[in-house]
Amino acid sequence: MSTLFTAAVVVLTVLVATVLAACGGDPPSAHTQPDSSSNVAEPRSGSQIYASTCARCHGSDGEGEANWMTRKENGRLRPPPLNGDGHTWHHADGVLYRIVSEGGTGVGFGSDMPPFKDELSREDIIAVLEFVKSLWEGKEIDGTPIAEPQQEFSLADPYPGPEQPSP
Ligand code: HEC
Repeated sequence: MSTLFTAAVVVLTVLVATVLAACGGDPPSAHTQPDSSSNVAEPRSGSQIYASTCARCHGSDGEGEANWMTRKENGRLRPPPLNGDGHTWHHADGVLYRIVSEGGTGVGFGSDMPPFKDELSREDIIAVLEFVKSLWEGKEIDGTPIAEPQQEFSLADPYPGPEQPSP
């Protein structure tokens, strides 16, 4: 009886020590550093991806390039606003995903929108698009939030599932 009890205490002590060691061995600062964007283990938020990857063309607040409605000398379009002031909300999630993944040329229009499929994972692309859509808050067309028709289009053409990352 007392041998059993001693054995149980030893097992418990070892367990507690193991758990403490596991927690204590991991400095919390490693997880809270704000500029850990180079740390691939840490998933980046949509706004971080936007700032580092998209803002240089589409503007820091998604406002698009000045004069985005006039074509460039080569006939191509300038980066349009993604913040809801343009027509981005006409596109279903699946279309938006393909534009970012395959680039403008990849989805069939001669374009300066680059493909990002080698640079961004499926999760990254969805995160950055969800960030873009968050910029549409308060934007309306004929009294209806623009997010509503976009959600409806997306029922028929949603983001691709995890098993088929680039359609
Ligand atoms: C090198 C500049 C450049 C970068 C970087 C860039 N884009 Fe674009 N993007 C464009 C251009 C130019 C177009 C217009 C394409 C066209 O219609 O010919 C465009 C179009 C788009 C469209 C379609 C918009 C619409 O209203 O139809 C989406 C969505 C988009 N970009 C998202 C992104 C996202 C998200 C990123 C970052 C991951 C990004 N872009 C990075 C240049 C860029």
